[in-house]
Amino acid sequence: MANLWRGVIREYADRLNVTDATPVVTLGEGGTPLIPAPALSARTGANVFVKYEGMNPTGSFKDRGMTMAISKAVEHGAKAVICASTGNTSASAAAYATHAGISSVVLVPEGKIAMGKLSQAIAHNASLLQVQGNFDDCLDIARELSANYPVHLVNSVNPDRIDGQKTAAFEIIEQLGKTPDFHFIPVGNAGNYTAYHRGFREFADAGLATHVPRMFGFQAEGSAPIVLGHPVKNPETIASAIRIGNPASWELALSARDDSNGYFGALSDAKILEAHRILSAEVGIFVEPASAISVAGLLERSAAGEIPAGSTVTVTVTGHGLKDPQWALRTDDGSDVQPTVVPVDVAQIADVLGLVKGTA
Ligand code: F0G
Repeated sequence: MANLWRGVIREYADRLNVTDATPVVTLGEGGTPLIPAPALSARTGANVFVKYEGMNPTGSFKDRGMTMAISKAVEHGAKAVICASTGNTSASAAAYATHAGISSVVLVPEGKIAMGKLSQAIAHNASLLQVQGNFDDCLDIARELSANYPVHLVNSVNPDRIDGQKTAAFEIIEQLGKTPDFHFIPVGNAGNYTAYHRGFREFADAGLATHVPRMFGFQAEGSAPIVLGHPVKNPETIASAIRIGNPASWELALSARDDSNGYFGALSDAKILEAHRILSAEVGIFVEPASAISVAGLLERSAAGEIPAGSTVTVTVTGHGLKDPQWALRTDDGSDVQPTVVPVDVAQIADVLGLVKGTA
């Protein structure tokens, strides 16, 4: 039998902040596919590969950091963890905490997280509270609670989270057999951008990568504090996962950009949905809207002439489409697709499909 994937802590123990005494709390995260995307290569003239992080156990990249954060929390004797979240962190924290036999508290912005994520956190027994504020308010409260009450913070300001998330960069280099020229990634709290850079930098310093790829990160236009250079008080975007006005890892992300000769850009919700459609209908990968912004960014930078033909490009798509599926049904006029209803009748169905009799 082939070697089975053992989760990111066991696969990369020598590169993570763990010891033999660390109890490994894992749901088998990591080892996600790196998928060649000929449709995106054709549109850009580059060789494009998509790192599909929706294939993690709770459907997002958060699991890579959460296996670390919860394992370390248990190692330190924590009985409860807390996080603020736009949805995915809460789903992941709840699942890993439950698996470890400890409890979780999650604070989410009222009415602003996708239903799949809300369902996950509740299913996994989190004490979930909807705060009458945005993500940034939730994070401030979570930080204060963890400083004054016996709840351990597992947001990406916890260094163990970034440590775990950097493993995706290791996998990309190993799967590709070389270092990409460019890496494209969505940006919200800016932890994942920071984590990928750290992973690429570590491999480069160890002689396992030839260089650090240029890190291109994208925020939604209505929630683009890093691009604007100042916090956004009331961030807005349909990409609820990245609806963040004051990223916790802002400074770290700027250093990562500078070290990698990288870039931050902002894109409209319309561009995000267009990329979402291209990924779904041309590549065959279903993601949530926030994830599609990395693809939108690639298309925009390519159209601007910034991506030389033949470049090797990797693109992270961060969360699964089933978490927030409504956008796939949305049409340009704002209504939802209504699939055609047909009777139980072969001839009529063939007619509706435009099929002409005869075998293939
Ligand atoms: N994509 C998805 C699907 C996310 O859920 C997030 C962040 C990001 C991208 C951005 O990553 O914050 O490290 O820059 N979600 C967090 C959450 C904030 O609470 O689930 P980032």
